[in-house]
Amino acid sequence: MVSGYPLIRPRRLRTSPNLSRLAREVSLEPSKFIMPYFVTHGKSIKEPIETMPDQFRYSVDELLKELKNVISLNIGGILLFGVPERKDEFGSESYSNDGIVQQALKSIKDVYPGLLVITDVCLCDYTSHGHCGIVDENGYVKNDETLEYLAKISVSYAKAGADIIAPSDMMDGRVKKIREALDDEGLINIPIMSYSSKYASSFYEPFRDAADCSPKFGNRKSYQMDPSNAAEAILETRLDLDEGADIIMVKPALSYLDVIYRIKQTFQRPLAAYNVSGEYSMIKAASKLGYLKEDDAALEMLTSIKRAGADIIISYYSLYIAKLLLLP
Ligand code: PBG
Repeated sequence: MVSGYPLIRPRRLRTSPNLSRLAREVSLEPSKFIMPYFVTHGKSIKEPIETMPDQFRYSVDELLKELKNVISLNIGGILLFGVPERKDEFGSESYSNDGIVQQALKSIKDVYPGLLVITDVCLCDYTSHGHCGIVDENGYVKNDETLEYLAKISVSYAKAGADIIAPSDMMDGRVKKIREALDDEGLINIPIMSYSSKYASSFYEPFRDAADCSPKFGNRKSYQMDPSNAAEAILETRLDLDEGADIIMVKPALSYLDVIYRIKQTFQRPLAAYNVSGEYSMIKAASKLGYLKEDDAALEMLTSIKRAGADIIISYYSLYIAKLLLLP
């Protein structure tokens, strides 16, 4: 009556795929993704990880072949985890010059000097008991003694060529200790990406199979955070930033989107979110059973992490999604 237009008009920005793409609030870029890799001793090894379909444990030579894809797809970087030959009480392979991560770093930097390589720093892959630190006779993790080891590992990785050091152990005071150790060695330009809010999560289970690092007794609840707490994540993050963290992190991502949002609103710092093994394997398993479509579900999951506020996404889906993004 008032005008010639219908009262309810379609939202015209949604009428074609190109228009909706133009109006999109967040989009994914391969250069903001980090791909994790498990590296192991030996030659010609590309061993499937049962709990993480399409993920493998690689020997260094095989990893070098695989990294061609990382480079050609313009992925932001890789995160290295070592699967050692021998484990002991103190995780000594982790800081040895010929440890598996040190060997991998040297080879990767020889062949692909420009590739950004982040190393996870933790003892759990390397200790016979599977805890993230040195344990006392009662099985408690000794915080301050563990810091000395974390500092040694960090310096060793940085000297072998790591571009970023990423402590995932959750000991108190580790960022400060690692920063001081790196600076003392003149490694002042090596940034620290701290796993600043890392929850005690059941979504790490597939990873523990991949890296063979399940604790042999007890659990990680005394040093990882209670999933019920969000304000605590802000406190933990502030402490890590005060100690010198350059990049902060929320882990896991999917059940903690509210934490990602809060941290990004509170701190104007580069924020990474770790889309962990369980989040990856859930989609893999459901899509194999035909319960959902892998491409759509992976894209939606990763978009939600970005929308919540993550600048950087660490995901086993990095390569997969980068290939998808290339499609018209
Ligand atoms: C080692 C570490 C873990 C993960 C990353 N670094 C396991 C754990 O804390 O138990 C989990 C990553 C994943 O699930 O993808 N501290």
